[in-house]
Amino acid sequence: MSAVILSGLEISNDIRNKLKKKVESMKQNGLHPGLAVILVGNDPASRIYVNNKKKACEEIGIRSFEYVLHEETSEEDLIQLVETLNEDKSVHGILVQLPLPKHINTDNVLLKISPNKDVDAFHPFNVGRIMIGDYCFLPCTPAGIMEIIHRTGIDLQGKECVVVGRSNIVGKPMAMLLLHSNATVTICHSKTENLKDVCRRADVLIVAVGKPKLINAEYVKDGAVVIDVGMNRLENRKLCGDVDFESVLEKASYITPVPGGVGPMTITMLMKNTVMSAELSK
Ligand code: GUN
Repeated sequence: MSAVILSGLEISNDIRNKLKKKVESMKQNGLHPGLAVILVGNDPASRIYVNNKKKACEEIGIRSFEYVLHEETSEEDLIQLVETLNEDKSVHGILVQLPLPKHINTDNVLLKISPNKDVDAFHPFNVGRIMIGDYCFLPCTPAGIMEIIHRTGIDLQGKECVVVGRSNIVGKPMAMLLLHSNATVTICHSKTENLKDVCRRADVLIVAVGKPKLINAEYVKDGAVVIDVGMNRLENRKLCGDVDFESVLEKASYITPVPGGVGPMTITMLMKNTVMSAELSK
């Protein structure tokens, strides 16, 4: 039997409609949520991400402030901008688009974002809160994935969840959220031995490594839920996930497509964090 395709786009639209209504009523009460996005340099993929964030703000009614700085911007100037935005009462969320140019130390910059405006949840203070389960901002991609899993109706308690990838943005916080739902969690990475065998244990398999079609049907247990975080641009310009969709479709119970799966959910969770931050600022 063929898997059910989990449309992140549909779930996203549903959440965005709710956020839109919420923002309308906040604005009537004199509170207009605002998100500042900083892009340093000309990375084309980052430019697309930033444009999508701006569009989502417009759609929901969030005020967006965009700062595009040239590639040679110094770390000091970038930090200066972050500090100005920390003090700006019309800004409730600050996002520094990653990756930053090589001459800038990313950790130094993230550390300067006020934890109260850290809608990416990248500041070590918020990372620590995720670790202990005392959330304020949830990390956007993992939070979006939890929403998708939630819509399958599956109870994660006691389930085998395997996360492939150990990045600070996805793999590590993802494992924490699953753990807080009482799942049994394994994190795999490039040094994992017998990756196939570990993946085949998974009731829920989440893949975030950036390797096109790494995971085929041989890695998947019958009836597993498969979540593909990959966004790889192939030579023919087509987008492709880390999962071989056609191959896994026949084996999984649920699967996310690329595009239209996890991607739209990440931005939607960013919008949700921005609205929450504005509410908390009162
Ligand atoms: N670059 C790729 N993903 C992200 C993200 O979620 N947030 C930021 N700030 N940069 C990114």
